[in-house]
Order: sequence, then C-alpha cells, then structure tokens
Amino acid sequence: MCGIFGIVTREITELGPILVGAGERLSYRGYDTVGAATLPREGEIDLRKDAGKVQEVAEKYNFAEMTGDRAILQLRWATFGAPSKINSQPHLDSDGDLVGAHNGNVVNNVELREEFQAEGMVVRSENDGESCVHAVERYVDQGYEMVEAIRMATLDLEGDYSFVIGKVGEDHLYAIKMGSGLVAGIREDMVCIGSDLPSILPLTREIVRLYDGEIISFWAGGYEITSVEDGSTIERDPEIVEDSMEAAQKGGYPHFMLKEIHEQSQVAGELLDMLDKIPEVDQFIEKLEGARDIYVIACGTSYHAGLLGSIYLNKFAGRSAIPVLAPQFAAQYGNAVGPEDVGIFITQSGETKDVINAVDAARERGMGVLDLVNVVGSTLTLISDVHLPLVCGYEISVPATKTYLNQVLALLYIALRWGGHDTTPLRKIPGLINLTLEKTEEQIKPLVEKLDGWDDLYSLGYGLTFPVALEGALKFKEITYAHCEGMLSTEFKHGPLSAVYDGYPVIFTAGPEDIPLIVSGINEVTCRGGHVIAIGLEDPRLKANAQQILTIPWPDLPEELVPAAAALLSAVPLQLLSYHCSLARGYDPDFPRNLSKTLTVD
Ligand code: F6R
Repeated sequence: MCGIFGIVTREITELGPILVGAGERLSYRGYDTVGAATLPREGEIDLRKDAGKVQEVAEKYNFAEMTGDRAILQLRWATFGAPSKINSQPHLDSDGDLVGAHNGNVVNNVELREEFQAEGMVVRSENDGESCVHAVERYVDQGYEMVEAIRMATLDLEGDYSFVIGKVGEDHLYAIKMGSGLVAGIREDMVCIGSDLPSILPLTREIVRLYDGEIISFWAGGYEITSVEDGSTIERDPEIVEDSMEAAQKGGYPHFMLKEIHEQSQVAGELLDMLDKIPEVDQFIEKLEGARDIYVIACGTSYHAGLLGSIYLNKFAGRSAIPVLAPQFAAQYGNAVGPEDVGIFITQSGETKDVINAVDAARERGMGVLDLVNVVGSTLTLISDVHLPLVCGYEISVPATKTYLNQVLALLYIALRWGGHDTTPLRKIPGLINLTLEKTEEQIKPLVEKLDGWDDLYSLGYGLTFPVALEGALKFKEITYAHCEGMLSTEFKHGPLSAVYDGYPVIFTAGPEDIPLIVSGINEVTCRGGHVIAIGLEDPRLKANAQQILTIPWPDLPEELVPAAAALLSAVPLQLLSYHCSLARGYDPDFPRNLSKTLTVD
C-alpha cells in the first residue's frame, strides 16, 4: 500500500540517502512506483520518479545528489492509473510550484480530473494523488493560505487518504490525515511525517500521533496541528516511542518471512505474559459476556484467525460468535445489530479499510467494538472500546505469519479464561511452536518437490482445521502465485472432486478428533488417482491412507486442549511449505507481486 514521507531540515542537507532510507522502510507495505521531490526556496521543484524498486529508481535517477531542506517521498501501490512513470507520485500542480503525494483513495478522482481540466488546470496523470494537489491548487489560486486551502480541498476530495504537500518559496510542509495512517517525528534539527512509525523511527523517537481530520503544518523546529472541522489549533505534545527497530532487520535470515515464522515462539510467549497481566483482558471478556450477539470481523489471514477463534469460543466458553468477512458485515448484519451486540475486529495492521468500514457500520448501530491489533497506535486502536495488542513487533513480510499465530493464541486464551478454564497449560505453546518448527522443517522437502510445477491444488480441513486449511491455501496462493483453494473437506465431494486426476495434489490438514472423517475424504481423492498430503498429529490411519504425510509433534497438554493446540500448531508447517514452494519457483516470498501489507483502500 502507498506510503508517504516528508521532511523539513534546519540546514541544507543531503536528502537523497534520507529519502532512500525512508523508502526502504516503507517498502514492506507493497508498492509499484517510487518518487521523490525536493522543494527550493525559489526556482524549480526537483522531481524524480518512476516505476520500480526503491534502489532501482534511486539509482536510475540519482537520488543521492538530491539536496535541500524540504523533501517528499512516496511509494505507490497502483489503484487509480497504471503503475507507470507518469502516474508515479509525487505530483506537481499546473505551474509547478506545489508538489504533493498521497496514500489512500480519492474515490471521485475521475470526476475531479474532469473538473480540474475544465478549469484550465494541467492534469498530467490518471492518479488520484494528483487530484489532491490540484484540489489544494484550486484554493491557493483563490488566495487561500496553505492550511486553509488544504481544509477547503477536503470538501472536494471524497474517500480516505492522507497527503503531504509543499510550496516553492516557503519553509513549511503540510500533511493531512483523513483516514490513512500518519505520524510526525520531531527532532531538534528536523521535523518529518510518515505513513507509519517504522518510516520515521530511525530518525527520531519523539513522535506526534495524528488523528483523522487533522492538518499538520511543520517546519524545522516546530509544528502546528489544525482541526479540519473548525480551523482551530490543536495542542499536542510529542511522546517518546520505545519500540526497537531491531525487529525490522532480517537478523541473519534470508527473508523476513522465515525470520517471522521463527519468531512465533518468542512472540507467543510475550503475548501470554501480557495477557496474564493486563486489565484489558477482563474488560474484553466482560463486554463479550454482556453481549447479545458476538461478531468476529476481519479480512484475509486475520479472518481465518477469527474463524478459528469462533470455534474456540464455542468449544471452551460455550458461546457462539459469528465470523464474517469485514466487507460483508454491513450487508449481512447491518440492520440486525444494535447496542446489545459486540464485534471483535481483528487486523494486524489496524488500518485495513475494509475493517474500518465495518467498524463505522457497527458504530452507527451503537455496537461495542473490541480489537485485536498488532500495529501500535494504528487507526483501529484509537477508536475501539477495548484494545488487545498482539505484541508481535514489526511484521515486515507481506504474508502474515506471526500476527496470525498470536491472533489465534489470544482468542484461545480468551475462550479458555471466559469459560473458566485454566490458561496455564498454554505456557507450553511457545515451546511446542519451536518443536513443531524443528520437526516439520525437515519433512518439508519431499512435499515441495511434489508440489513444484502444480499450479492448481486444494487445501482441505474440517472442524478446527477448516480455518487452518483456508489459511494454508491463502499463504500458498499469495507467495507461489499458484491457485490453491481452501475448503471444508466434506464439501470437496459436492463438486470440486471432479478436478482430481492422476497425481492431482490435495492437502488435508487433520485434527485428532476428526481422523475417521478425514480418512474417508482422503480415500475419495486417492481412489480417483489424486495425490494426498496429510498434515496432522502422528496417527497410523493418516500414514496408511495418504501418499505423503507431515507429522506435527504431539502436544504435551491436557487432553481437552490437544485438538485446539494442534490446530494452532498445524499452521506452522503450512507457512513453511508455502515459503519453500515460493523459493522453489524463484519468487520473493516477502514481497509478492500486486500485494500490499496495509490495505488502506476499498
Ligand atoms: C495474508 C495477509 C492478508 C491480510 C489482510 C488483512 O498473508 O496478510 O490476507 O491478513 O489483508 O490485513 P489486516 O490483518 O492488516 O487487517
């Protein structure tokens, strides 16, 4: 997803390396094009941009030589307009003395471009970031000061976005938050803004969080925040952020994804430590207890975690929780919910637009909003009633791994505690994750060899392993670019079985409670020539029926917890399998094509 960065320094500085550094730190969000601009006190804006990776574009256009005391950088993930040089950001206004870049979506972009053209403005691209610049230009040309012009522009721009903009001849830059993430960093000799904390943390730990409907005007040595609504000044002191940037480095692993898979044991331990201590757990459970209906609302991998969580809530707390994909929430339940109901909103980024839209719909009906979010200070954490942090640190690779696992573990913990069960056996989970990694990593190779070359397969599960199978399929699709459909195993015979022919791969993730049913499913596939890979705890019945098996070490836990823990643990080999299959196909699993880590658009 797009990322923006802007900086104002006290002295004329070599800005190229700072911009490239910020670009690299934003790159985990996913992007197609890169651009940077420096703004002089007089003369022409130096604008360099193109499609490609940060290093490629920076080298091609020699970012290293960019100097000045004000600059803007943008990484763009294409929505409006192809990922081309002309659509790259930042953008100039008609006469080239304003430059700006945005993150998010301006949904009336097409209409606005027509209006701007009709008004005689020079519109160069199809991109909605350019519309942000022209919307400000419109009011600057009418004589408004920059902050007022930006306020007026919000009346024209529809959608959720943030943007940074500056004008030749000034010493300020300006940024606005209207739905997409934005944070400012303060240092004695510079002020900067970025779409997220990682983009600015190496420059300063003194930060100012911005909220929707706020404009920040900043200069070397100061800043002022203005309310979009009434133009009043908002006082806000900086705060110090302690987060370590170490987690944003690869730490000896070839990819962030592998590093993050291996960090799962550690972050699971940290999560359990925290859940035992913080009062929010009781507040979370109290809200659930008082609810008429509970909804679990999320997208993608987080949805799969929520789906598994809803099974845990049924199993251990005896309460139903309705899992729903966030964009379907309003359509399916919007008119049925009210203040008696509660939603558990799950999102690693805390910024996913589809989820925020569902939060808005829930709020409109007076529903309670609980969150499970990883990114500290992200949009959802600021607007929910109770926030449970996932404490995974930075997850850089686009495919979610450790955040999924901690989402599942947090939900298991809540289900157990709510149901009056002992949560102390969960203390064994971090060790079991390590053991699972150790024992399954060595079994992966023959499976990778089998799956290499197959661009179409299924991943099936049942009961507790149904969400795991969906998650395995999503990981596989995401980073191997092959089509892997996740499905309830019993549904396979209702249609997709017709896809099976000699050697056709079908992965079954089997829970210990469901072996007989899974064995039937396996045989329906194998007797038609299909090739079955079974993933599960050691079981002779799986061994006897599947062509290949991947065994998860038996969790040393109370019997009633074993199936729940097995479901949590079986995601680990599926993550590893996708990772190695991606490498076998020559792809970069950290940054799959077309995808973005933080989806702040509809
Ligand atoms: C897949 C993946 C995505 C996200 C989805 C929601 O590996 O990461 O499917 O789970 O885009 O993102 P969040 O959790 O940030 O709301």
